[in-house]
Amino acid sequence: MGTDPRDELRELVRATRIYLEAQRQLGLECIPAAPVAGPAPAGPPLTLAEVREELGECTRCKLCRGRTQIVFGVGNPRAELVFVGEAPGAEEDAQGEPFVGRAGQLLTRIIQAIGLRREDVYICNIIKCRPPANRNPEADEIAACEPFLLKQLEAIRPKLICTLGGPAAQTLLKTKEPISRLRGRLFEFRGIPLLPTYHPAFLLRNPHEKKTVWQDMQLLQRELTRLTGRA
Ligand code: URA
Ligand code: URA
Repeated sequence: MGTDPRDELRELVRATRIYLEAQRQLGLECIPAAPVAGPAPAGPPLTLAEVREELGECTRCKLCRGRTQIVFGVGNPRAELVFVGEAPGAEEDAQGEPFVGRAGQLLTRIIQAIGLRREDVYICNIIKCRPPANRNPEADEIAACEPFLLKQLEAIRPKLICTLGGPAAQTLLKTKEPISRLRGRLFEFRGIPLLPTYHPAFLLRNPHEKKTVWQDMQLLQRELTRLTGRA
């Protein structure tokens, strides 16, 4: 405190002049109008295989201690539709593939109900390792894992994303709104339409909500038809 702002400004100008002169002597001809290295990824996105490689035998969060294996994702690397769930359960942890337990079998039937096969779409989770006793993912676990989900989505660049259950929708949409208010409405994630719906595990416990998800899936199917121009 107590520094005259005019002196500070003079010092700033002097330092900038010295800096620019040094840059000029190093060959700099002009100052770029925008930062050269911004937050946007430079160059083409990674492939799914490269994202998997970068993830490695991950120990970025505490879930690594309880997992059998990482459950990265499965399906078509050029899928037009990606489903994003929450986290692997016991079956997924054992097999290394998302959505293969009871909820997964229901998801497979939901996919078939909209005229697709499981292998046409891509399926992954916001969390790649099974939480103990299937508890909800914690904030630090989501923070550690989310960059890899984002890179998976960048690699695939689907035309449409469907999130399953509250945590997936809330993570990608950066909201705390309950899934009951998010579901059935189209949002946008980095330019890609995103439709939240209920989680198939929730449907197993609340079968009367199947008609709600069926409505959501009809909207999903319509959107996909519109976006791909195929019937
Ligand atoms: N529930 C999920 O959210 N993901 C899975 O892979 C399995 C069950
Ligand atoms: N409550 C949940 O926990 N999940 C859903 O998918 C719906 C309601």
